[in-house]
Amino acid sequence: MERSLIKEVLAGGKVGAKITVGGWVRTARPSKGGFAFIALNDGSCMGTLQIVADGKLANYESQIVRLTAGCSVVAEGELKASPAKGQTVELHADSVVLLGECDAEKYPIQPKQHSFEFLRTVAHLRPRTNTFGAVARVRNAISMAIHEFFQQRGFVYVHTPIVTASDCEGAGQLFRVTTLELDKLPRTSEGKIDFDQDFFARAAFLTVSGQLEGETYACAMGNIYTFGPTFRAENSNTPRHLSEFWMVEPEMAFCDLAGDADLAEAFLKHIFRTVLEKCKEDMAFFNERIDKTIIATLEHVATSDFVRLTYTDAVGILKKSGRQWTFPVEWGSDLQTEHERFLTEETFKKPVIITNYPAAIKSFYMRQDDPADGVPGPTVSAMDVLVPKIGEIIGGSQREERLDRIEQKIRGMNMRPEDYWWYLDLRRYGTVPHAGFGLGLERTVQFVTGMANIRDVIPFPRAPRSAEF
Ligand code: 4AD
Ligand code: MG
Repeated sequence: MERSLIKEVLAGGKVGAKITVGGWVRTARPSKGGFAFIALNDGSCMGTLQIVADGKLANYESQIVRLTAGCSVVAEGELKASPAKGQTVELHADSVVLLGECDAEKYPIQPKQHSFEFLRTVAHLRPRTNTFGAVARVRNAISMAIHEFFQQRGFVYVHTPIVTASDCEGAGQLFRVTTLELDKLPRTSEGKIDFDQDFFARAAFLTVSGQLEGETYACAMGNIYTFGPTFRAENSNTPRHLSEFWMVEPEMAFCDLAGDADLAEAFLKHIFRTVLEKCKEDMAFFNERIDKTIIATLEHVATSDFVRLTYTDAVGILKKSGRQWTFPVEWGSDLQTEHERFLTEETFKKPVIITNYPAAIKSFYMRQDDPADGVPGPTVSAMDVLVPKIGEIIGGSQREERLDRIEQKIRGMNMRPEDYWWYLDLRRYGTVPHAGFGLGLERTVQFVTGMANIRDVIPFPRAPRSAEF
């Protein structure tokens, strides 16, 4: 018989139906009247289906009464109305087949609360816990909401490469990709490493962003998005940084910074609304166990206008705040998490889109702004979307579409225009104003679930000194 999902059984299973379910035992207790009650979870939802196993089943004494948490079973039988609290149906089993035993003493997932730190050391088993099951389901719902949002708007999903020769963010935080033998590196006559002998006949890296390649498709298809893993070799041990994370990057031709910000706001609201609607049970769990304000926050954010503010005005607010900052605020310095959180959590109490950052702290591809009154130095059409608790969740910009300006910029940053020849071709052949942004998937999952550490919202986190599993 086809396996039913426990989610569907609990939501609408018909009394009298004959069904088969498979899952892992959460608890099992034999009762006095010659029955055993087994709470079975199959990962399709947070809840468990109660299996009632009759003492007359052939393997009752040999297997069923000895079931413990973590054993895998397949149970078949008839759904009956349940007298127990909190469930409408239970399965009266005709058979309970034990597929895999589970040593109760050695099993790392004991029926008690474990710390998230401990669960990171058993990342292969943590999806069997309530919290990590819920995180996985919410992450899935967010991923689908992302595709849904762009597909509804006619954006084309483009797969940009993982292996690349260019440093999109120009920050030098790249992982190298090579097949050279590290203890026998070939050298050029000048004594440098001879990458001509490497697999790609050039130095290659894991991408930090699909944006540059994304721009090429936007400058042909109009509106596109990429959604895939990106890699950063920055040595940041924070609850908001990973070395491998997933980024969603839309790119739009014929679009300026204001249009980019409009899309970012509509996009985030769509994600939050979808999760509230589709993940009710999991969100109730996060609201109860992780952060008592999380549902109210999401509802508030999904319905309120985001604040839009220039960097220069943001610096003004931070300076006037009278706060003692760990990182002093001066026009020209980058905003730190403490500043971002102050603006979203205290000043405005909602998401804030900061625009027009100093050119010197942003990437080479951002469009130069015309000088404006009261702005002390050159700025670019950049934007960061900040949300409470997380800080930056989106970074984006209008791109520099003017060939002379971008060449000048690349040289000014000690990079070589020749290395970006194909990127510059977009400015040579039919250039258009265009803009885009990158949303960090894990920061989004963190914001939505209230999970404090980014390592707990991706199945197998990669961070400095950490790549087990
Ligand atoms: O601000 P970032 O570096 O922007 C870009 O990479 C642009 N090329 C995007 C674009 O315009 N197409 O990164 C974008 C987002 C950040 O706002 C953050 O949410 C996330 O990616 N992010 C990280 N998430 C986890 N760990 C890290 N180390 C991250 N670095 C950035
Ligand atoms: Mg950024």
